[in-house]
Amino acid sequence: TAKVTVPLLQQKKELRHPITAVTAYDYATARLIDEAGLDVILVGDSLAMVMQGQPDTLAITVDEMLVYTRGVRRAVKRALVVADMPFGSYHTDEREGVANAIRFVKEAGAEAVKIEGGANRASLVRRLSDAEIPVMGHIGLTPQSVHRMGGYKVQGKTLAAVDRLRADALALQEAGCFSIVLEGMPRELGTILTAELEIPTIGIGAGPDTDGQILVLHDMLSLTFAPPAKFVRRYADIGASIQAAIGEYKQDVESRSFPSEAESYHLPTGVQL
Ligand code: KIV
Ligand code: NA
Repeated sequence: TAKVTVPLLQQKKELRHPITAVTAYDYATARLIDEAGLDVILVGDSLAMVMQGQPDTLAITVDEMLVYTRGVRRAVKRALVVADMPFGSYHTDEREGVANAIRFVKEAGAEAVKIEGGANRASLVRRLSDAEIPVMGHIGLTPQSVHRMGGYKVQGKTLAAVDRLRADALALQEAGCFSIVLEGMPRELGTILTAELEIPTIGIGAGPDTDGQILVLHDMLSLTFAPPAKFVRRYADIGASIQAAIGEYKQDVESRSFPSEAESYHLPTGVQL
């Protein structure tokens, strides 16, 4: 099947074919996801939490994100590889934001970057688009705004908040975003934004009517250690599988049933000790 590109995602919206997206942070999982035929692989800054055990996404740096992005890049042949711009990498000035985005393309092979924020990012989105870097927007529950929001809370629950999010979405589209992630909002708002925008929406906790869906891989596989958010569907219990496998290995080592004769090397015939 054909390489996924920015224009192909636009075409999918127009044909009403759902866009499939998931996060990945390493070679092995990215390879499995790509072979499963998903459209978009996001190297999300959620990796700070699920891969590094940090309490939020704020501390991760561009240099760290680049390491993970390179591993994903080496694995992926078909999906569109999108890299998350971490907190602080595009908040000081636009020049620096563009320079950091260019690093994701040049040093890690990202095909697009994602930034959080609405109308306040429109000018940066324009600069990035001028630099030939496709930009995915991200509005609603934006984890880099955790301190302003006062926690990870569903956004867009008042008419004023809905109006702001509609204006944000349109501003991002107008500025050149090729797609927007809608996170943590009433499904009714996901429906309206998807209908109002010409570019594809990718939802996470935004209901079933967005043009695509994204989940954090570790959430959907139960490789996390806190109760999941309401919007997470658990497709496997990989945490339990890993724990069972490691427990068996421990038992086999302790009972000396591992390794077996067949799992051992031998001296060549004729060589005697
Ligand atoms: O970092 C991330 O995983 C994300 C997705 C949840 C959209 O931004
Ligand atoms: Na993110």
